[in-house]
Amino acid sequence: MTPMYTDKVLEHFKNPRNMGEIEAPDGVGEVGNPVCGDVMRITIKVDEETETIEDVKFKTFGCGAAIASSSVVTELIKGKPLREALEVSNKTVVEVLGGLPPVKMHCSVLAEQGIAAAIKDYYDRHPQRELPPEVEDKLRRLEGTDPHAVPDYIESEALE
Ligand code: FES
Repeated sequence: MTPMYTDKVLEHFKNPRNMGEIEAPDGVGEVGNPVCGDVMRITIKVDEETETIEDVKFKTFGCGAAIASSSVVTELIKGKPLREALEVSNKTVVEVLGGLPPVKMHCSVLAEQGIAAAIKDYYDRHPQRELPPEVEDKLRRLEGTDPHAVPDYIESEALE
């Protein structure tokens, strides 16, 4: 059965924002879902002084929900300090999209993972800067989510 997408999902899928790749990025996050095989690559440009995300782009080989989630997440984090960008969750992405079918929730998790991975990579490239503990906490939590299913922490906050 074809999942029902909201108009907002379809709009972001047809006109994705910030698609592409930043040349000489300050951080790269590449994440994949082992079950569906979809892959998302996020590149970020960071203002070193303010640690703010100046620019962000994505390349996603995946379903419509993954592309729409990537598009939304880049809009949400552009211009934000890294610590604030880290607070953007898949739940926020799903809210902006007006909901996703339960079987497509993991696609929004991929977007949250991609951002966290890009931010982690930024800190890996700048060892003189202290990695905020929430980066690794988040990556560990997201890595532990079952790629087949709606993760527990999402289910508990399920959107209708
Ligand atoms: S089905 Fe794989 S990310 Fe959507």
